[in-house]
Amino acid sequence: MKRMTQQAPAKVNLALDILGRRPDGYHDMRMVMQAVSLCDTVTAEETEEGFALHTGGDFIPAGKKTLEQRAAEAFFTAISRPMPGLSVTLEKRTPAYAGLGGGSADVAALLRILRDRYCPDLPGTELERIGFTVGSDMPFCVRGGTALAEGRGERLTPLPPLPRCHVVLCKPAFSVSTPDLFERIDGVRLRRRPDTLGLLGALEAGDLAGVARRMYNVFEDALPPRRAGEIGEIRNSLIQYGALGASMSGTGPTVFGLFRDASAARHACSALRETYRETFLAQGLEPVE
Ligand code: C5P
Repeated sequence: MKRMTQQAPAKVNLALDILGRRPDGYHDMRMVMQAVSLCDTVTAEETEEGFALHTGGDFIPAGKKTLEQRAAEAFFTAISRPMPGLSVTLEKRTPAYAGLGGGSADVAALLRILRDRYCPDLPGTELERIGFTVGSDMPFCVRGGTALAEGRGERLTPLPPLPRCHVVLCKPAFSVSTPDLFERIDGVRLRRRPDTLGLLGALEAGDLAGVARRMYNVFEDALPPRRAGEIGEIRNSLIQYGALGASMSGTGPTVFGLFRDASAARHACSALRETYRETFLAQGLEPVE
């Protein structure tokens, strides 16, 4: 196998709503997901034996199989083939633990590499199913583009693409634990819910301002007050710099804003970067498949 490479685009949640906690401990979600051009690069190569993951210095917990290895094993089980030795390299640009699905995007890119090399006829829905065995947001990361994600995140409905725009993503310096925030939200009375139906209508109409105006993420209500304050400040800054709307992505803490105007987006990005080192400029992406 020669070296094979795939891009691993980050995602943002244009809307994130939680419908309730399920008997299995997970939550039923309704999310409008959008892939963006901020991405890692994943390279894989066949080796003599074993599974090796190279992350350029990022921490890999010892003694625990990585999601990449678990997904590769699930892939070869699904296609009934013994797993060869694999060396996988991640070139990271998307911040981790940021609400941008960066880790899942890397695993999804690896699955696309394995599919292209070992089973090109494998349907996309089967690759999504394999991904789902290692994480709830994997099916979307495999597919990309713009989609409504329901259930735990595995029920995907393709949506019309986000109208052309510029996305400024700004990650404050703290991290948020996804399981902790899910735990917290069970005890919180939600003050506001996203207008998901209205947002879907705005996507259908190609109405960027209508999409941006309706963006909302219920996890903002579950943040500790000090954190919520900082998220609110970033959102206000994005709006002041000209964003049509801004919201937190996933379980945070990244806040993103949608801009029609490229130069306003570039200005917002460089101004916010003075305070927040991890600030990026991106565009919406169409599906990978
Ligand atoms: O599926 P994944 O491993 O990415 O989920 C991480 C954690 O997030 C789960 O252990 C669970 O606590 C929470 N989660 C949830 N409901 C979902 C997705 C994730 O409660 N739909």
